[in-house]
Amino acid sequence: MLTFEVSDDREAIFLSPEASLDPKHWHAVAAELRETDPVFRIDHELFSPMYVLTKHEDIFEVSRRNDIWNNTRASVLMADIQLQMLEQMGLMPHTLVHMDGQEHDDHRKVTNDWFKPAAVKGRQQSIEEIADEYVAKLADFGGECDFAQDIAVPYTLHVIMSIFGIPREDEQIMLDLTQGMFGAADPEYMSMDDPFQGVVDTINQFQKYFNELSADRREHPTEDLATVIANGEINGLPLDESAELWYYIIVATAGHDTTSYALSGGMEALLSHPDQMAALKADPELAHNATSEIIRWTSPVRQFLRYAQEDTEIRGVPIKAGERVLLSYPAANRDEDVFENAGEFNIEREDADKLISFGVGAHYCLGVQFARREIQTILPKILEATSSIELAGDPVYAEANFVGGIKHLPIRYELS
Ligand code: HEM
Repeated sequence: MLTFEVSDDREAIFLSPEASLDPKHWHAVAAELRETDPVFRIDHELFSPMYVLTKHEDIFEVSRRNDIWNNTRASVLMADIQLQMLEQMGLMPHTLVHMDGQEHDDHRKVTNDWFKPAAVKGRQQSIEEIADEYVAKLADFGGECDFAQDIAVPYTLHVIMSIFGIPREDEQIMLDLTQGMFGAADPEYMSMDDPFQGVVDTINQFQKYFNELSADRREHPTEDLATVIANGEINGLPLDESAELWYYIIVATAGHDTTSYALSGGMEALLSHPDQMAALKADPELAHNATSEIIRWTSPVRQFLRYAQEDTEIRGVPIKAGERVLLSYPAANRDEDVFENAGEFNIEREDADKLISFGVGAHYCLGVQFARREIQTILPKILEATSSIELAGDPVYAEANFVGGIKHLPIRYELS
């Protein structure tokens, strides 16, 4: 396992997974950087240098100008040695977030229509049914549960499974696969001593599982996303096995933990603000704005990297072609220049829709409609089904510097 020391807190909040265990401290350090050094250079022996962007405006502009700022195949932060190992083993990820230009456009087009608002609206009934199932489970748990593990994780997993068209009995396989990819930095999700080896094993498992799924959908096409991927074409040619695999991986991983962390973090925020919980219960119409605020507040995707394609500058700081910037979404989501009282959770805030949690530009989150609908659908149902809910213990945060949030949320409740 790769362990390393980061003595400067201003570097640790971006490099060390452990820094996410204390969100208050994390945001205090990020706020200072936004104020004093919004284009903050990190030089650490294990990581190639990078400039961290913490202002909303800068992240927006860099993401929008993907002609100047490329993702490249190293858009997810890793220590240099980890990237080298992946490269040597021929396992460098090649998903949508690792592509640029025409290649990215071509691959995104394969599923773009399937994710459009009108198409996703057609799946609302299925989301409602899965949400009802998990609200009904509250009765089975007898008044106390771990909201994150008992509701948020399996609910969002089942929506992803329904998107793909994966049968219920494969739930555990899917859970292991998605957490094996993104939970790799958190000790609780490590299945072995070496988390990096865990990711490699996960990719191999994914390959076997999804090859079989694709083969089935070529023979028996349905309305699901697996059918679109399995029968997808680029320039008149079918996607090859590897392109298909990376497509499945990006949707399964990007679509599960992200939404589950938003939901568990949203529940925690509502429980810590009983007046807002009461307002939402009294007026379910607030769920739309509350969902934006929850996703701003929790900002489950912590960061992505972009690489300069030409010499440029940000806020007067020169950045040479080939150098990179780290986009810190949680920091930008608390930028006082954009959000009034940014450090306050407020489901009625008028600027909630300026959230940058889903990114901007060519890579703007493909699953945004699903993420929003999942949260917006289940929250009012939970509030309607319960006469009281309270915290029954401290929330526990995952150790993660890519996708993270609350992984355990003990709650106590009475049914109405
Ligand atoms: C609250 C939940 C979610 C958050 C915060 C989130 C956030 C993000 C972010 C920040 C990006 C990169 C944007 C950029 O670089 O500009 C992204 C990309 C992506 N997301 Fe999401 N996401 C969420 C849920 C989902 C769901 C539910 C799905 C699928 C059902 C999904 C699928 C994707 C895909 C496929 C991409 C890659 C798009 C591309 O590179 O072209 N996401 N997401």
